[in-house]
Amino acid sequence: GSGRDADIERVIITEEQIRQKIDELAKQVSADHAGAEGGILLVCVLKGAVMFMADFARALGRYGPQLEMEFMAISSYGQGTTSSGVVRILKDLDRDITGRHVVIVEDIVDSGLTLSWLMKYLQSRSPASVEVVALFRKPDAIKVQVPTKYVGFDMPTEFVVGYGLDFAERYRELPYVGVLKPEVYARS
Ligand code: PRP
Ligand code: MN
Ligand code: MG
Repeated sequence: GSGRDADIERVIITEEQIRQKIDELAKQVSADHAGAEGGILLVCVLKGAVMFMADFARALGRYGPQLEMEFMAISSYGQGTTSSGVVRILKDLDRDITGRHVVIVEDIVDSGLTLSWLMKYLQSRSPASVEVVALFRKPDAIKVQVPTKYVGFDMPTEFVVGYGLDFAERYRELPYVGVLKPEVYARS
């Protein structure tokens, strides 16, 4: 490949694997929320979860539950490659979530700091329930245990990019997940 693809050392999760996994997750989340009063309120954690939200919502919609979507933007990494542990709200919820069945849609659980902070934040607003669906998880990196009910893929503790995951804001648009070549780090 050339351009952005040439910066990738190897692909670890393909586009097709992602598509299949999202369908499985949607099926489970739908089944677990059968009869949930008011349907499901998806809360997307921008920016990383943007791709997952778009594909997951469409997959979930095919299983029939009533859906609404909210977007929060929070950041704990900034420009670095390790979590600072300091979570900043860049964009808050637009609506009240009291009594709602909330599903947080997150791309990855790494240290767990972002999600553990967000779970507490949303739980303090009296929803009927809060669950997490995370497409990726780095089990070796966990610093804080977060009850993540739905997880797509466990992956190695390497810095990966694509499908929403960035390095210094780049590579989010890749349709697969890959490991960056070391020389790409050195360059920036
Ligand atoms: C990344 C990722 C998760 C979080 C996971 O977001 O999208 O939200 O870090 O890391 P943690 O489990 O160690 O907290 P980031 O803060 O880089 O913002 P972004 O989504 O805008 O890239
Ligand atoms: Mn994020
Ligand atoms: Mg990031």
